[in-house]
Amino acid sequence: MNNHTETLSVDEQNKRFWNELCGTQLAKQLGVVDSSPASLQRFDNWYFDFYPYLFKHIPFPDMLGKKVLEVGLGYGTVSQKLASSCDGYRGLDIAEGPVAMANHRLAQMGLSGEAVQGSVLSAPFPNESFDWVVAIGCFHHTGSIQGALDETWRVLKPGGQAIVMVYAAYSYRRWMYTFAPTLRYLIWDKFGIGKAPQTSDRERKQYDASGAGEGAPETTFTSASHMRRMTKQWHSVRVTSENIGTEGPFRNTERHKANRIFGSWLGLDIYCHLVK
Ligand SMILES: C[S@@+](CC[C@H](N)C(=O)[O-])C[C@H]1O[C@@H](n2cnc3c(N)ncnc32)[C@H](O)[C@@H]1O
Repeated sequence: MNNHTETLSVDEQNKRFWNELCGTQLAKQLGVVDSSPASLQRFDNWYFDFYPYLFKHIPFPDMLGKKVLEVGLGYGTVSQKLASSCDGYRGLDIAEGPVAMANHRLAQMGLSGEAVQGSVLSAPFPNESFDWVVAIGCFHHTGSIQGALDETWRVLKPGGQAIVMVYAAYSYRRWMYTFAPTLRYLIWDKFGIGKAPQTSDRERKQYDASGAGEGAPETTFTSASHMRRMTKQWHSVRVTSENIGTEGPFRNTERHKANRIFGSWLGLDIYCHLVK
């Protein structure tokens, strides 16, 4: 972070950083250089193959005829799938690039719906306007997971449901590379002693880096128990973890197999299924 970005709000910094679509480096590796249907299909095939459990956590068939808000759009893979599964897709992203990509995909595929630019911390939608909110990999970048959850609650209809993926505080990667802060987090989380540590520049880059090598402006790690404390007002809360990478002790293990065995207790991401 330079002196200039330090003076900007988290929303302003996110607006700038995430304008480069999340997944851009991957797209380059896959040889995806344009936004034609064939190129986007290649990207999407990779994405759903890499995160196959998304189909378990996001029940696309249940969204038929429903109003769905997606928050945090990135390259738009989930956006396109949601828009083709529901009746009334809305996308929300802080940055212009992901909003343009989602709207491009909707137009290209002849799907109805619209993506708009704005922050989930003050979501530009009336109370009780959606049946579902889906936010994959977004709330931990906003600077306030609690604020994002409160807005999710506000825009959902009574009985509405949310699927929220955030980075896990107790993943294998955090224990391996960031042992002391992870232990400090545990002491704060389980015993209320001290405070949750700030994420270092190195760790922010390890999780999300731009083409220029910058790390995401804000990244927060959360445990299942912290997530439950933040969602006390919800009718029901279910939390599971997923995602084992091919690094450290897992570098010689087939990824899907490692995830099946270790994902639910050491995974990089936690998936929360919330019912209002
Ligand atoms: C890591 S990407 C995830 C994108 C996509 N869901 C995926 O799975 O690839 C995070 C996205 O959240 C968006 N974002 C960050 N802060 C936000 C905020 N306050 N409100 C809305 N979107 C935000 C970023 O612009 C970015 O597109």
